[in-house]
Amino acid sequence: MTENTGITEKITVRQVGADEAETLLAADELIWAASGSEPLDVRLQGVPIRAGFVAERDGEIAGICGSWDLDIAVPDGGSGARLVPTEGLTWVGVHPDHRRRGVLTAMVRHHLEWTAGQGRSLAALKASEAGIYGRFGYGVASTVIRASFGRGTRFEAPAAVGELADATRTTFETATPEQTARLRALVQRCATAGPSGSVVRSEDDIRRHLTDVPEYRVGLEPRRVLWATRDGDDVGFAVLRRTPKWTDGSPHGEVEVFHFGSTDAGARLALARRLVDFDLMGSTINWVPLDDPLVLWSASPRTVTGGLTDSLWIRLVDLPAAVADRGHAVDCDLRVEVRDDVLGANQGVWHWQSVDGAGRLERVDGQPAEPADLSLSINDLGAVWLGGQTLGARAAAGFVTEHRPGAVAALDAALRTAVGPTAAADF
Ligand SMILES: CC(C)(COP(=O)(O)OP(=O)(O)OC[C@H]1O[C@@H](n2cnc3c(N)ncnc32)[C@H](O)[C@@H]1OP(=O)(O)O)[C@@H](O)C(=O)NCCC(=O)NCCS
Repeated sequence: MTENTGITEKITVRQVGADEAETLLAADELIWAASGSEPLDVRLQGVPIRAGFVAERDGEIAGICGSWDLDIAVPDGGSGARLVPTEGLTWVGVHPDHRRRGVLTAMVRHHLEWTAGQGRSLAALKASEAGIYGRFGYGVASTVIRASFGRGTRFEAPAAVGELADATRTTFETATPEQTARLRALVQRCATAGPSGSVVRSEDDIRRHLTDVPEYRVGLEPRRVLWATRDGDDVGFAVLRRTPKWTDGSPHGEVEVFHFGSTDAGARLALARRLVDFDLMGSTINWVPLDDPLVLWSASPRTVTGGLTDSLWIRLVDLPAAVADRGHAVDCDLRVEVRDDVLGANQGVWHWQSVDGAGRLERVDGQPAEPADLSLSINDLGAVWLGGQTLGARAAAGFVTEHRPGAVAALDAALRTAVGPTAAADF
């Protein structure tokens, strides 16, 4: 049992065993107001028992959370990305009787310390509400719009991309667990082709997502997979569902894309064309960043309706390891003061160097002979880690302070990415 001191000595957070899956499930259904009407064995399938946690206060279950085993695609310093093993915080919930008394705080702190103990440099999450996780050092690393493309949308791509798309074949299948190895290998290839920001789930999780559970889709079709292949190789995919809708006797169904990736622009265009060309469907919903080729191939962003929202939140857990794991676009040599109220090991002044794309941090011990070039918080680094924000913008907003002129631009240049991060799949 791990005790969290410093929040309240009455809250303990401990990892549960597989035999406590039902405890996690019952708490989750209570917190999320779920009906729990499906058979128990069905409901148990999604419980994150690989790493599930409960918070207890006075012997009562006060909260739960879990952690998925993920790889996140971070910038490689060029136009691609490299996969970094990451803990994905999930299933966060606090019993209604215990809310606003520090249970979430105890669980998130525990998760961050546990993540560091796992030897992982990053934690990530997708947030149910925007105001919860900044206080724990998470930053909004990528943003997406809920893009709605009308039936027959014309994507105006340059001819060379069109030719590549014409050479790409798309095939439509029902999702099955037998596709797990094929899809995971493809997701990995799409993620590392760049840009950063993709989430690669573990094999177990992908298999679970590809396994049809009729009880969960009540009347909806099972998930389908659209594959893109060229010269016999997989070059892209979309996992989706079509929902028929009829208005005044006419078909206006909706295609919802859950997960989407491609190894090049031609594959993306071939998938996009097919996604807006299903019979009986009126629109296709795909969560994409504003600089996604699908948006750039539209006449103007105004033609792509839909709200903006945060996609992936990133938290640097082991700062020196995270810097070593991420590519740098140009050399830098800076002293950076980092604030981290939760994980003290990250706090302090660091000598941040990058040479030939490789980043390295060394702590400036004791009283620094020279003051830092810039000061920032661990949240700022989470926000810029995938290239979705810049330190310059965060300095303009007052979060980052520059002590030596040019220091913010120098670190921004080292962390620069050719393209902003792509959408992160749900987890
Ligand atoms: C969100 C939730 C987990 C918060 O748990 P909690 O134990 O009440 O949180 P804590 O008492 O540790 O609160 C810590 C801080 O977060 C703030 N906070 C909590 N929930 C918040 C929310 N939804 N929005 C903004 N701030 C929130 C608290 O006010 C507190 O602020 P303070 O440190 O300035 O005092 C809980 O309300 C819940 O279970 N909600 C439903 C499920 C859910 O949304 N889970 C999140 C999944 S991503």
